[in-house]
Amino acid sequence: MLRIAIDGPSGAGKSSVAKSVAKKLGIIYVDTGALYRTIGLYMLNHGIDTKDRDAVVSRLNDFKLELTFVDGNQVILLDGSDVGDYIRTPEVSMAASNVSAINEVREFLLKTQQDIADKNSVIMDGRDIGTVIIPNAEIKIFLTASIESRAKRRFEELKAKGQEVSFDKVYTEMLERDKNDSSRDIAPCKKADDAILLDNSSLTAEQTTEKVLKIVKRYKKKNRNFYMKAYSVLAAPIRFFQRIKPIGLENIPAEKGFIICSNHIAAKDVVMIAVSYPRQIRFIGKKELFSVPLLGWIIKKLGAISLDRSGGNVNALKASIEIAKQGESIAIFPQGHRYPGVDPSTTDIKTGAGFIAYHSGADILPVCIKTKNSKYTLFGRIQVIFGKPIRNSELGFDKGGSDEYTLATRRIFNEVLRLGGYNSLPELGEGDKS
Ligand code: DC
Repeated sequence: MLRIAIDGPSGAGKSSVAKSVAKKLGIIYVDTGALYRTIGLYMLNHGIDTKDRDAVVSRLNDFKLELTFVDGNQVILLDGSDVGDYIRTPEVSMAASNVSAINEVREFLLKTQQDIADKNSVIMDGRDIGTVIIPNAEIKIFLTASIESRAKRRFEELKAKGQEVSFDKVYTEMLERDKNDSSRDIAPCKKADDAILLDNSSLTAEQTTEKVLKIVKRYKKKNRNFYMKAYSVLAAPIRFFQRIKPIGLENIPAEKGFIICSNHIAAKDVVMIAVSYPRQIRFIGKKELFSVPLLGWIIKKLGAISLDRSGGNVNALKASIEIAKQGESIAIFPQGHRYPGVDPSTTDIKTGAGFIAYHSGADILPVCIKTKNSKYTLFGRIQVIFGKPIRNSELGFDKGGSDEYTLATRRIFNEVLRLGGYNSLPELGEGDKS
């Protein structure tokens, strides 16, 4: 889990930087200012003076505010309607700043923000993310810039949107908001003691993004766990001696967990995938393996999950769902068996991949291990081809059930086949679906 908190005053460019960093890392971006803006909008629409604390507090239970994500983009619903287009005006900015100084408003939004940060890798921007919302965030950045550069950026932004404003007005309002946001008693906008200060007065948005990505890279290098340390030492030599060539690595976002679905040739497929996938994969091992001297210690250190086979496949499915739900990656083989020397488009597939996808909500990363004649030979070349992630929402789930798992698994496996240049699975015949 990686949580990045970006705090700082208005106009420092937090949102555009956070958005691009989120995209690069494959994590979600939460714009917490939009929540305060939505409450400000509601109050304005209902003629409430946003400086009147009691009046604002008395209306907090009168509306429903939902924070959702559509294709990775944040959408805020106010009483069921998407308010994204209405919360960026100067009036709403000031109303947001006013309501954000009210303790009850902050309390009201606290759980929504913390729930998301508890369950997901996120980059969250605001004023109090590193100090109050996620005080134990892995990375904290305080992004700021001179008031002149911030006002200039905001002015250009509003102008580009066709809003008629003067620079002086933007400047004065920004000064007032700065004062409001940093001098209030509760959760004022201030740098957390352990946050990195980044002043981007003379940087472009792209340069700021690069700086943040560098900070993330540095953090990750410093905090590499046993698995990633082992990976950095062993993966390249294994790839070299086994003639393994990973392809499509650019398709793998850096932070996201996936259900990695691959064709299955032999037991060593897991090694082929592990040395090609530049991130940690969680493996499931039979419980007995954990008590083998040395091996047990190593696999435990590598983060393997112990599986009690006495419960049959159910425990393996449960463990996989848990791993995927935690935002970690797990490799599974939709064919369910090893098929050395067999064209994968002619084999049977099971429904486990679809089942795990449905119950975890995780996205899929299709992978095809391509070798000559679908076999491993002593010096044969091996390609490990990663496709673009398949979003869970593309798998056509509705209420779950075996028909849906079958169709989803076929959709996934067809992508695996396509990556390897194989034919698609034959059409389903009557009765094949259940
Ligand atoms: O980031 P923004 O300009 O969209 O935020 C709008 C207002 O909300 C801002 O004036 C301060 C307030 N805010 C806050 O107090 N705490 C946050 N975490 C985010 C925003």
